[in-house]
Amino acid sequence: MGHGIAQVCAQTGGFEVTMRDVEQRFVDNGMRMINDSLQRFVKKGTMTEEELGAVRARIHPTLDMNEAVQNADLIIEAITENPPLKKSVLAEADKHAPQHAVIATNTSSISITEIGAATTRAEKVCGMHFFNPPQLMRLIEIVRGLRTSDETVEVIKDVSRKLGKEFVVVKKDTPGFIVNRILIPALNEAVFLVDEGVAEPEDIDKAITLGLNWPMGPLKLIDYVGADTHLFVTDVLVNESGDQKFRPSTLLKRMVRANRLGRKTGKGFYDWPKTN
Ligand code: 3HC
Repeated sequence: MGHGIAQVCAQTGGFEVTMRDVEQRFVDNGMRMINDSLQRFVKKGTMTEEELGAVRARIHPTLDMNEAVQNADLIIEAITENPPLKKSVLAEADKHAPQHAVIATNTSSISITEIGAATTRAEKVCGMHFFNPPQLMRLIEIVRGLRTSDETVEVIKDVSRKLGKEFVVVKKDTPGFIVNRILIPALNEAVFLVDEGVAEPEDIDKAITLGLNWPMGPLKLIDYVGADTHLFVTDVLVNESGDQKFRPSTLLKRMVRANRLGRKTGKGFYDWPKTN
């Protein structure tokens, strides 16, 4: 989601953005996806070629953490849902960032309090949970950790408004916050239906899109978000809450082991032919 968040910040927010990843190919891929997405706005006539160039020029890709955060007012972390990794990356960002900088995490399930405690500025650490694709989805969940200050929440509200988003404030960083607490069991239940042979994936998705008016069925949504990301979130929810209502089906685990992750690997519950 990082590239989508970088794009929204530069495109709608008009912010200068430094987009950092750990390998050149990931940064290049992010810029390519940003370009593809911006081209869609141009094709639709909601953006000119000049505006596209200006948005791109506001995004500065880098591999270097110091360069990424040394002049930052706001750092938005969007790495994989792996608590030790998130904590070590944010501890490093904390070391290089100016004292006033706010650290927001796009985690969808990990405790903000725990992430904040890995830094020296827990009061300036806050959840800022975007939804996929961040360029289009209108919501941000703003999630308070135990030590997040009111001032930090106000900063994130202000930035969210500048990004053209609606927000909700989650007062306690409980597992799954609001949206994933409801969504994850529903998506997992859809995978159980496949695993139990109750219906074909197409029919399960058809039932939910037509029966509940979801824009996309649950299995297509797992493919869209990535089965690995979905399993990471599920595992965190099971571990954090100890509640079996979040449990994943063995089919989901097998799909991840087989690299059938959905859109990003070309195969999941559906085939995703490369479009370029
Ligand atoms: N950038 C720019 N434009 C985009 C785009 C992108 N990345 N993706 C799609 N679009 C545009 C398309 O060009 C198209 O434009 P048009 O109407 O002018 O032709 C329009 O958006 C609609 O796209 P599509 O026709 O390809 O497909 P859909 O109508 O199905 O819309 C969707 C795509 C907005 C993704 C819609 O299917 C949707 O809302 N799906 C559900 C998404 C969702 O539930 N997200 C939450 C996931 S959970 C999550 O993120 C939590 C995390 O913690 C895991």
